[in-house]
Amino acid sequence: MTKVFSGIRPSGKLHLGNYLGAIKNWIELQNKADQAIFAVVDLHGITTPYDPKNYKEQVMDVVLDYLAAGVDPKKSLLIRQSKVPQHTELGWIFNTITPVSWLDRLPNYREKVSQVEQSGEENSKSYQNNLSILAYPVLMAADILLYKSNLVPVGDDQKQHIDLTNEIGARFNHVFGEVFPNVKAHIVQGARIMSLQDPSKKMSKTGDEGIALSDEPDVIRAKFKKATTDSGKEIKFDEKEKSGISNLLTIYSLLSGKDIKKIEADYGGKGYVEFKNDLAEVVVEFLKPFQDKRRELEKDPKHVIQILERSEEEARKLAQKTLDEVKQLMGLL
Ligand code: AMP
Ligand code: TRP
Repeated sequence: MTKVFSGIRPSGKLHLGNYLGAIKNWIELQNKADQAIFAVVDLHGITTPYDPKNYKEQVMDVVLDYLAAGVDPKKSLLIRQSKVPQHTELGWIFNTITPVSWLDRLPNYREKVSQVEQSGEENSKSYQNNLSILAYPVLMAADILLYKSNLVPVGDDQKQHIDLTNEIGARFNHVFGEVFPNVKAHIVQGARIMSLQDPSKKMSKTGDEGIALSDEPDVIRAKFKKATTDSGKEIKFDEKEKSGISNLLTIYSLLSGKDIKKIEADYGGKGYVEFKNDLAEVVVEFLKPFQDKRRELEKDPKHVIQILERSEEEARKLAQKTLDEVKQLMGLL
């Protein structure tokens, strides 16, 4: 049985990196899996500075992005993490079997602490090195194991969190009895999309460098015009010497389905400007059906809420089953 789970924090509109690195795989997997659950992990989103006034809207933005990108409510459950309280309950239980030394060595933790410290945001002080940043991957393990999921499509930056999920699951099984399966990360190679301004960094939700899936065509064109390249002329894949052009070639290839070699040949003797303009059109075309569908969904918020509520009810049932098993073994039931 293949049981898929994945989630994204609602920290901004989804961008091309999220799509190519994560959601594209979800859409493929939901057709093959016996169970597929996709979550907007709003309880993870509040571990770093955020704006409570806009948060509900931000969560809905990601829900709309999921549906428009092809998450199919007939095949998958689409949930808001905080609407299924069993996530936090299992998270707490996992806290009781997770040594701090498994958490504070994780590079993602160290990175987050320094990001929060440097962010300079008004409320960042209250977040400095909070317990929740450390416990973040414990809640993530609970997200996954609550549904006995065994396949998790994520970007390669999440690999260590999946390893930790397996360590926690194995420890539970060892101490209390066999409940949790082994989990595999489903990572697609070559799907790391870099920032258009600084190709040494990942495209991300913060800053203006990301191409949001819902960006208007003219915004997309302007962003590609400004994309960093190099002082050379050749359109050639070379991640070391030509990281900007290589990133653009990757995006071009993944969205058009053309081989990178073929694109290089097509642009032999042509300049960066022409290449970037054409790429902008490839992206605009690719995103059009997504954006049309998103606009349709925006017109019918009741329908979207209905999808969420149905999914969440079903998820609570599945979750409670696992949680009862866990509590029974722990002497809590
Ligand atoms: P985040 O936006 O950091 O919450 O990440 C959500 C999901 O998208 C995770 O599975 C990430 O690994 C993936 N992801 C985020 N940014 C990128 C990127 N630039 N390229 C590829 N995958 C990404
Ligand atoms: N930590 C993940 C990220 O930053 C988000 C996440 C939370 C997640 N819970 C999850 C991903 C469970 C996969 C499965 O992208």
